[in-house]
Amino acid sequence: MSDTETKTVLVVGATGFLGPALVEEFAVAGFRVICGVRSPDKAARQCGLPADQCIIIDCNEDLDVGTWLRRLRECAPDVVVNNVGIANCFGSQSLENVNVRAPLALFEAVRLYRTEKMRSGPPREYLPVVQISTTGVGWPDYERFAYPLTKMMMEEALATMDELDWIIVRPNVIFEPGRGHLLLERIASFPLVFYIGRAYIQPIHCRELAVGVVRLVQQIPASRHLVFTAAGPEALTWKEIFQQSKQALNKHWGIFLPAPLKLAQLFTMLVQRLPEGILRRLGIFAKMDPETMVMMTRGSEADNRQWLRYTGVRSLRLFESYDAYGQGPEAYGEFIRRLREEHLTYGKEITKEA
Ligand SMILES: NC(=O)c1ccc[n+]([C@@H]2O[C@H](COP(=O)([O-])OP(=O)(O)OC[C@H]3O[C@@H](n4cnc5c(N)ncnc54)[C@H](OP(=O)(O)O)[C@@H]3O)[C@@H](O)[C@H]2O)c1
Repeated sequence: MSDTETKTVLVVGATGFLGPALVEEFAVAGFRVICGVRSPDKAARQCGLPADQCIIIDCNEDLDVGTWLRRLRECAPDVVVNNVGIANCFGSQSLENVNVRAPLALFEAVRLYRTEKMRSGPPREYLPVVQISTTGVGWPDYERFAYPLTKMMMEEALATMDELDWIIVRPNVIFEPGRGHLLLERIASFPLVFYIGRAYIQPIHCRELAVGVVRLVQQIPASRHLVFTAAGPEALTWKEIFQQSKQALNKHWGIFLPAPLKLAQLFTMLVQRLPEGILRRLGIFAKMDPETMVMMTRGSEADNRQWLRYTGVRSLRLFESYDAYGQGPEAYGEFIRRLREEHLTYGKEITKEA
C-alpha cells in the first residue's frame, strides 16, 4: 500500500476519542477517508468532514452482511478499520451486537466485496481490515469481563477468516492531553486527587496509536495476519499518572489519597443517575460502571516491542506529552508533527524483512 495512488479508507466508528485521530492521521497520510458514523453532525464537528464523506451506521442494529456489502459497494474502500467498541452497555446497546455481531457482518461483507472485485476488474490483491481490540484480551481472567470477552470473540472469529488480510491492534488505556476520556488536565487542577490501587498500566498516546495504525496499513504487504499490542513506553500506577500530568502542567500542589474500590464503584452508580447532559460533560466518569472500574484499576502491562518494530513510531511518554501540551497549542502541534515525521529505523528494517 505504499504506492502514490489515492487510497480510500473506511473508518467505522469515526467519532468519539480515537476515531477522529484515525481520520486525521489517514487524511494527513494522503488517504481519502469515509467515516462510518451514527451521527454525521457529530462527525462534521469532530472530524471536519462534509456529509458526503459519511455513511450512517448503527452497530447495534446492522447485523446483516447484505447491509454492509451495499455500503462497501458505494464507498469502494481499499482499507477498512473497525474502531467501534463499547466497554459496557448503557441504554439499549448490546455488547455482543456492537463488539461482535456487527463487525463480523462487516468483515464477512469485506470478504465478499473483495471476491466480487477480483472477479470483475483488475485484481485487488490487498484489502486489509484493521480491528481495534483491547489489551484486556490478554488478561488471564479476561472471560470474567464482558468487554474483553466480546473483543476476544471478535478476534477469534477474525482468525478463522483466512481469506482476509487482517491486522488486530490491542491498545492499552489511551490518553491525549486536551481530548479523550481521562481528563487528566482537569484532574491536575484538583487539590485533592483520589486514586485506586497500585496496579500498573501502560497508557498509550492517542496519536502514537493513530499514526502507528496508518503505518501498519501502509507498510505491511499482503496476506498478513498480525496482532499487535499497542502500549505506551512506561508502566505507571494511577497515582503516578495523576502526579506526572499535574507536574507536567506545573500544578505542583496536591494531596493524593487512596480510595477503596467499593467506594469508587458506589460513586459510579450514583454518577449514572445524573441527567444525560451532565454525563456527556463528565467524560470517562459517564462511561464508568462498577465493572469498568475494576477493569480500569486491575492493572494491564503489555509488551510493545512488536508494535514499535513494525510501526517505527516513537513511543510518547505521558510526562513529555502533558509538558508539550502545557506549553501551548503551537508547541503541542509541533510535538505531534515531529511524531508524524519521525520514523525510527527499526520500523524501516522490519518493512524490508516482512
Ligand atoms: N479509550 C481507551 O482507553 C481504549 C483502550 C483499549 C481499547 N479501546 C478501543 O478503542 C476503540 C475506540 O475507543 P474510544 O476510547 O475512542 O471509544 P469512544 O470514544 O467511546 O468511541 C467508540 C466509537 O464507537 C462508536 N459506537 C458506539 N456504539 C456504536 C453503535 N451502536 N454503532 C456505531 N458506532 C458506535 C462511537 O460512536 P458515537 O460517537 O456515536 O458514540 C465511537 O465512534 C474502541 O473499539 C475501544 O474498545 C479503547
